[in-house]
Amino acid sequence: MKAMVYRGPYKVRVEEKDIPKIEHPNDAIVRVTRAAICGSDLHLYHGMMPDTRVGTTFGHEFIGVVHEVGPSVENLKAGDRVMVPFNIYCGTCYFCRKGLYSNCHNVNPNATAVGGIYGYSHTCGGYDGGQAEFVRVPLADVGPSIIPEGLHDDDALLMTDALATGYFGAQLGDIEEGDTVVVFGAGPVGQFAARSAWLMGAGRVIVVDHLDYRLDKAREFAFAETISFTEVDDIVLELKKQTDWLGADVVIDAVGAEADGNLVQHITSAKLKLQGGSPVALNWAIDSVRKGGTISVMGAYGPLFSAVKFGDAMNKGLTIRTNQAPAKRQWPRLLEHIQAGRLTPRDIITHRIPLEHIAEGYHLFSAKLDNCIKTVITTD
Ligand SMILES: NC(=O)c1ccc[n+]([C@@H]2O[C@H](COP(=O)([O-])OP(=O)(O)OC[C@H]3O[C@@H](n4cnc5c(N)ncnc54)[C@H](O)[C@@H]3O)[C@@H](O)[C@H]2O)c1
Ligand SMILES: [Zn+2]
Ligand SMILES: [Zn+2]
Repeated sequence: MKAMVYRGPYKVRVEEKDIPKIEHPNDAIVRVTRAAICGSDLHLYHGMMPDTRVGTTFGHEFIGVVHEVGPSVENLKAGDRVMVPFNIYCGTCYFCRKGLYSNCHNVNPNATAVGGIYGYSHTCGGYDGGQAEFVRVPLADVGPSIIPEGLHDDDALLMTDALATGYFGAQLGDIEEGDTVVVFGAGPVGQFAARSAWLMGAGRVIVVDHLDYRLDKAREFAFAETISFTEVDDIVLELKKQTDWLGADVVIDAVGAEADGNLVQHITSAKLKLQGGSPVALNWAIDSVRKGGTISVMGAYGPLFSAVKFGDAMNKGLTIRTNQAPAKRQWPRLLEHIQAGRLTPRDIITHRIPLEHIAEGYHLFSAKLDNCIKTVITTD
């Protein structure tokens, strides 16, 4: 089969690999029909994620058709169209029983903080991902669901990560009726978080980024006010000015460890690797939320960080909530919103690229070329 393969920072290509085999009775092999490239894949692509091994296939946002199932699989059979959440989890451990699927204790021998994620380095379990013609889906009775009748394939695809994550980001903000919500980052996660904030009662939604085409999208798709942080002297001051000088009630960080906006942070993280990443967006969130407010962090961060303004967070009495999204937990509510016509997730897709040309897809998305927001990888 054809599969995307990591060859080192900024180098990916398509290679021939063996079709994965059933390794455990509860495995399924899924023929991938659509995959997407996530902002999280860029952290791998940029070489920022520890233990990303050459030869690995990325891809944790995908849907497909069941090709084969192991002998103990009861919920799926060959031919079923399935959407597969990006988390791999057992469904029965202490954490899974609490709904913390992304923190499953049974699927990742390499870390205790995070569970398993498809195609997301050995730090997240060493599973191959879905940017390929076939993928092994462990614990097939637990994660995947049959795609409901009438749900568009592209919408199903986005439910497996970006949409579920954006929605979860808004949920963790504990938004109350009329709240002012600021979202840092106008990528797919930020767009969906901003859109979801309205569904949860926000009174005002402001999206911050520096890419004008993405801010245009945030106005059109997420009905948000927007600010480009490069067009104001001080983004925190600007946000304070726009929120009665008190600050936003809720701030969502949909940027993560590769934030722009501060040269020193950029050089000490991306270039010199002196710290795990740049905390610029997180610090802006801490500074621009009001005292007693809530910060929801969806942006991905590596384990160790310096220069985070934790003292300010403490003294402002902030609530900071964060996690990898337990994608499947959001599906029932997201389906209702989509079926009721309140949300058409596929509106954010900007590119479709055949698997053979996936290197171009990574380059476009990484360099933010050609107004790229979300790329779908096709396999037929
Ligand atoms: N928690 C989870 O479960 C989960 C799931 C998916 C993605 N993520 C993470 O969410 C983040 C966003 O994902 P995405 O797919 O939207 O990625 P993306 O790269 O498309 O979007 C990130 C956006 O942030 C903007 N940005 C950079 N610095 C900024 C700053 N200082 N302030 C405001 N905006 C800034 C960029 O211009 C870009 O538009 C990534 O870190 C990704 O790893 C987390
Ligand atoms: Zn992702
Ligand atoms: Zn578990």
